[in-house]
Amino acid sequence: MAKVIIFGNTRTAELALYYLQNDSEHEVVAFTVEQDYIQEPTFHGLPLVPFETLEQIYSPSEFKFFAPLTEKNMNRVRARVYEQGLEKGYSYISYISSHATVLTDKIGDNCFILEDNTIQPYVTIGNDVVLWSGNHIGHHGTIGDHVFFTSHVVLSGGCQVGNYCFIGVNATIRDQSVLGEGTLIAMGANLTRQKTDPWSIWKGNPAEKAAISSKDIKI
Ligand SMILES: CC(C)(COP(=O)(O)OP(=O)(O)OC[C@H]1O[C@@H](n2cnc3c(N)ncnc32)[C@H](O)[C@@H]1OP(=O)(O)O)[C@@H](O)C(=O)NCCC(=O)NCCS
Repeated sequence: MAKVIIFGNTRTAELALYYLQNDSEHEVVAFTVEQDYIQEPTFHGLPLVPFETLEQIYSPSEFKFFAPLTEKNMNRVRARVYEQGLEKGYSYISYISSHATVLTDKIGDNCFILEDNTIQPYVTIGNDVVLWSGNHIGHHGTIGDHVFFTSHVVLSGGCQVGNYCFIGVNATIRDQSVLGEGTLIAMGANLTRQKTDPWSIWKGNPAEKAAISSKDIKI
């Protein structure tokens, strides 16, 4: 059981509060965001404090941190906050739903894994990974850091998913695929190729590579 500070004061932070309060042993004690985003001193009845000076109020030796931000800017906003939390000296919790089927213990920190995910044996998941609800993560797969799976994705067995990838709702990825860093798989895409270039976008069935980079798209 840890006393936890959540980064955020919008809907994702509200959801993190819900899941930690209803399905974890942790106690949420405060929220934090950058000073410019603070309009009220509290959020959901708990203190909302500036991230810039967080460690002066909540010592990293006593409190843990959780920053389950969205996929904005291909997960790079969440990755930046994650790194800043580490630099401040915090260690992270991960939330793994009790309603998920998790058959691996190789899951990193700051992960947010919601209900109805099936994670098969011999899967490895890095740090700062979000698996929204209802994904199938096939056996012997590897997921890197700062990755976001939306919902109802089928990642077939033995795939390697690079850092910063984003997988849209209802996408299907063929077994043994290797997704380069920052790959964006569109909603409903059916990836039949087994290798994607870094920062590429794939759409349709069978999925085809878009002309632009995932760095140049707003999600
Ligand atoms: C791939 C994606 C990022 C494209 O975004 P975008 O470039 O802003 O898309 P646009 O709406 O401008 O569409 C550009 C073109 O791609 C097509 N397109 C968009 N998404 C597509 C998809 N998933 N599959 C096939 N074609 C798609 C559009 O029809 C359009 O085609 P056109 O130029 O022939 O008219 C977006 O559609 C997507 O899949 N986002 C993920 C959504 C998701 O999973 N949400 C859950 C969030 S938790």
